[in-house]
Amino acid sequence: MNVYDSVRMADVMAPFGYQASDTYEDADLVILNTCHIREKAEEKVYSELGRIREEKENKKARGERMLIAVGGCVGQAEGEEIFKRAPFVDLVLGPQSYHQLPEMVTQAIRKQGGVVSLDFSAEEKFDALPHSGESQGVSAFLAVQEGCDKFCSFCVVPYTRGAEFSRSPDALLEEARRMVTQGAVELTLLGQNVNAYHGESNGKTWSLADLIAELARLDGIARIRYMTSHPRDMSDDLIAIHGSEPKLMPYLHLPIQSGSDRVLKHMNRKHTAEWYLDILARLRKARADIALSSDFIVGFPGESEGDFKETLALVKEVQYASAFSFKYSQRPGTPAATDDQQIAEEVKHERLQRLQAVLGAQQTAFNQSCIGKVMDVLLLRDGKFAGQLLGKTPYLQSVYVQGGEHYRGKIVPVRITGGYLNSLSGEIVEESTPMRKAS
Ligand code: 5AD
Ligand code: SF4
Repeated sequence: MNVYDSVRMADVMAPFGYQASDTYEDADLVILNTCHIREKAEEKVYSELGRIREEKENKKARGERMLIAVGGCVGQAEGEEIFKRAPFVDLVLGPQSYHQLPEMVTQAIRKQGGVVSLDFSAEEKFDALPHSGESQGVSAFLAVQEGCDKFCSFCVVPYTRGAEFSRSPDALLEEARRMVTQGAVELTLLGQNVNAYHGESNGKTWSLADLIAELARLDGIARIRYMTSHPRDMSDDLIAIHGSEPKLMPYLHLPIQSGSDRVLKHMNRKHTAEWYLDILARLRKARADIALSSDFIVGFPGESEGDFKETLALVKEVQYASAFSFKYSQRPGTPAATDDQQIAEEVKHERLQRLQAVLGAQQTAFNQSCIGKVMDVLLLRDGKFAGQLLGKTPYLQSVYVQGGEHYRGKIVPVRITGGYLNSLSGEIVEESTPMRKAS
């Protein structure tokens, strides 16, 4: 979501003569688009600000100006506090305010810094944003929903991104059509709680499945994905469309967070492990080859060794294709932060290692199971080495292939030759090469 937001910030500044720069050393305006989800992400903001400050001072010594903005969820959560800790920052804005950026920049230049906007209406932001003139390339993000009403007890999102808001289907179809003309073949529909999407058009309410069905009708769009979903919002029509819409990719990121019902209850997740497993069974019934991914938190307050073992057992039962796992991080203002049953750092660390060992082995096994198969790969960009391209399989695995420059941006059949923890290697199957007859 922050990548998408950064593109939109660049769009909003473009009419004022600003363009994206690869480095911040020569920049007139540096915006840190920040994440508040865990403490580690937040701490990075302050260390990065220290580095940018040096450049600001270098520029000042040359008689030039650099404005520094802190955008995103750290901006929203900390507001004016940021000026106390980093007085060289000029602007602070939350994720719902970036349409106000040009005005804020003008104000900061006039009054020499210290401008804040923490407005909280996503609706106003989307109405005010200009159309994106810059192409995102063949794989584009489309924010369909923002905010979250779930209030999991560990999570800052409902406080930083605000209440759930769904954009209108008409605006989304228009934006998607524009993305197609700019070269998009894959759309990833974004939202903090994307499957809670409920857009209004002509008195009718669209579900996420309705939106996917309509987007799939766009010529030029070959692949559709969505993230991130909450198990409670996996409606019947959404599960069903995984079986009926071939453009919807057979991969789903569906976080459970913990395998213990006791912990899930404390987390205010509003579902049990059994309920989640039932959804996965229904998804697999609709689309047998669906690959699954999840988020996990270890060391949530009160999590016992027994609870943690239930998470391990669930992981073993599901067999994930990929997953993200984190140590619980106390976030200010969330109910779990003040729970008096906090878990010691060493215990969190040890549980994370054990969980990641299992998840890593499953991911590697999934990748290795692809060896020898021919998979459709969307070739996106340069790989790590010269002459190499990086692409994505339908299951969102990264594949490195040698050569095939003329296939960049296209979906091509690739024979998988290697499977590792985080990637695959493969060879493009040249369709035009005539098969040699056996003699
Ligand atoms: N501590 C650790 N992980 C967290 N997440 C959200 N809040 C916290 C927290 N306080 C994780 C969840 C979520 C992902 C985006 O980040 O697993 O799904
Ligand atoms: Fe945070 Fe996701 Fe829970 Fe919403 S559903 S509160 S975004 S973890």
